[in-house]
Amino acid sequence: MKHIGIAVTDSQDWTARALYEAVTRAGGSPFVFRLHDVTTRMLGETELVAGDMDFRSLDAVIVRDVGGGGDDTEGMSYRFDVLCNLDEQGIKIVNPPLAIQTAANKHMSSYLFKQQGLSTPDTILTSDFDTAVNVLREWGRAVIKPIFGFKGLDIHCVVDDESSKIRLIKHLERRGVLYLQQYIPNPGRDIRVFVVDGQVSGAIYRNALPGSWINNLSQGGAPRHCPLSPEIEELACGAARAVGAVYAGVDLIEGEEGLSILEVNGTPSGRGIFEACDIDVTVDIVRYVMGEVDG
Ligand SMILES: Nc1ncnc2c1ncn2[C@@H]1O[C@H](COP(=O)(O)OP(=O)(O)O)[C@@H](O)[C@H]1O
Ligand SMILES: [Mg+2]
Repeated sequence: MKHIGIAVTDSQDWTARALYEAVTRAGGSPFVFRLHDVTTRMLGETELVAGDMDFRSLDAVIVRDVGGGGDDTEGMSYRFDVLCNLDEQGIKIVNPPLAIQTAANKHMSSYLFKQQGLSTPDTILTSDFDTAVNVLREWGRAVIKPIFGFKGLDIHCVVDDESSKIRLIKHLERRGVLYLQQYIPNPGRDIRVFVVDGQVSGAIYRNALPGSWINNLSQGGAPRHCPLSPEIEELACGAARAVGAVYAGVDLIEGEEGLSILEVNGTPSGRGIFEACDIDVTVDIVRYVMGEVDG
């Protein structure tokens, strides 16, 4: 029997529970743990343990969530390093730690999308206020995002006016660098596409609340079935590949000139697409992982 670890922050969240069910139904033995609870014992022989579980008994780990967003920079760094060390010890880690890190980093992901020739909005990173203001004047409207942001938090629309300039200055003072992206006029929704192993499992529209331009479900966006098209599939698979993700939630936006990639989520929730379309992406993820560790 295959022993599959599931790294969570909240064992009761929909995706964590669905992964547990999917591993069980696929004939595997799931072990749910928090990376926060992993101890690395370097006392003679090195051992990684969580409670009385020795990681050497695991065949693979599916990463639901690493946990972040707080002030624990060292804790976060340790949890990533644990994934890297488990990988180094021969345990299959999905998503690979480097892919999770790259996807979480909006600067590096945007860079890779452009390098791969994938359609993505024009974006500039700079610590120079005048450079930012000049680009903003040219674009008219832009979005500033934290490089390691998520759930639509701390994202702001800026235009060529005084209060936006104050916002830029404050953002620069607090974060040291600006990620400024051209605002893409859109139909009040974006598209979240789920990719597993180079194939699209399904997609949802996320319709923002009235008066809002941020479509994240955690910001009140509503999930609706989105029909697939070759353009959606090609772009989403290209985005997942660009960051090295085996499974991904890819955010696309429908601009006047077609689709473009906003970002890739390396630890996406499967709840919205299950509720809107009855598609359980965790089944596809588990099928991939069990296939990889088979024999
Ligand atoms: N360049 C943009 N133009 C228009 N809307 C955007 C743009 N960038 C982000 N948004 C909106 O903000 C939401 C969050 O942006 P995203 O880059 O996915 O960051 P997060 O990691 O916080 O989800 C998107 O789902 C979309 O609704
Ligand atoms: Mg997003």
